[in-house]
Amino acid sequence: MTAPAPIPFLDLKAQQTRIAADLRRRIDVVLAHCQFILGPEVTELESTLAEFCGAKHCIAISSGTDALQIVLMGEGIGRGDAVFLPAFTYTATAEVVLVLGATPVFVDVDPHTFQIDPIDLERRIAAVKAAGKLKPRALIGVDLFGQPADWVSLSAIATREEIFTIDDCAQSYGASLHGKRLGVQADATAVSFYPSKSLGAYGDAGALFTQDDARAELYHSLRAHGEGTSRYEVLRTGMNGRLDSLQAAVLLSKMTVFAEELAIREEIARYYDARLGNVVTIPARVPDSTSAWAIYAILLPDAATRDRVQTSLREQGVPTAIYYPKPLHHQPAYRDHHTGTALPVSEDLAGRILALPIHPDLDAASRVRVCDAVLSAVSG
Ligand SMILES: Cc1ncc(COP(=O)(O)O)c(C=O)c1O
Repeated sequence: MTAPAPIPFLDLKAQQTRIAADLRRRIDVVLAHCQFILGPEVTELESTLAEFCGAKHCIAISSGTDALQIVLMGEGIGRGDAVFLPAFTYTATAEVVLVLGATPVFVDVDPHTFQIDPIDLERRIAAVKAAGKLKPRALIGVDLFGQPADWVSLSAIATREEIFTIDDCAQSYGASLHGKRLGVQADATAVSFYPSKSLGAYGDAGALFTQDDARAELYHSLRAHGEGTSRYEVLRTGMNGRLDSLQAAVLLSKMTVFAEELAIREEIARYYDARLGNVVTIPARVPDSTSAWAIYAILLPDAATRDRVQTSLREQGVPTAIYYPKPLHHQPAYRDHHTGTALPVSEDLAGRILALPIHPDLDAASRVRVCDAVLSAVSG
């Protein structure tokens, strides 16, 4: 008997088929008007995205990384400044800090929700202040895997410490906390529309959200080389953070099915929870929130079990991924910028975490297959 075909970890082809007619129509409009950068689709996308998450301003940006960098540039963050961020995240969160000459200060995460730990944040801020070398300037809180960080606690700390809050919402556009979608919780919110995200373009794309009129104007300027009211008036050092109209057209098309897709992701997560909750550690829900379920990650008891389960799943045609195999403070690019303090939760998670396929085109038979495979791998 031949083994069944592997389940796709992500199925962008199937999604494309669902939106094909609308997608084609929007792409043809761009091809007809030829305003390939910051064209009318970009403006329409900005209104659509802002309305969906309840933010006052949306500025479409070339990528999530560029969106983060623009926010830091807007605050004038650079040499001598400390920017606090979780050690258990994608490299881009820390990279932008170093690119601007500031110092990333790594914070541990909560062992249950995997989100940045407000108690450890307070410790790290106190340590930076006590050392007296760096000025605490900003916090980049990451909404990891689709769930929101604890923005109520984080904002309270930031207000008390007078530091700027940036929500790295690269993985979690569409999620909500205490009845409000992400996009309004921090002083500025940066989103990525990398193709594999819950809302993904067909190339690099991102967005910034803010409630502040002056910052919105500043971000518009920074994304276009620091321009003023006319294109050849240069007010400040900016960058090229502009978005392509074709990517905006793709995202507008995907927005027509996005709410429905979020509901399907939630349905899959609940099915996994119900079938796997007794045998592995399933993702703990952040209280009073909804998730965009970019990633559904389980925890195995130890690294050897994780590796064995991953191999068994691969053999059963179920692909998995490890986000993240190494916390950032252990990465060669960052370890020299770290104080050497242990961040035990991030270090532990890196050895035991395993992400299962979750996407809106995962059909019922595939969901059953994923769970059957995990149950057999764990008991095997
Ligand atoms: C947490 C986090 N921050 C930032 C980024 C960067 O986004 P982009 O790839 O759009 O530059 C990503 C993308 O994977 C991410 O996961």
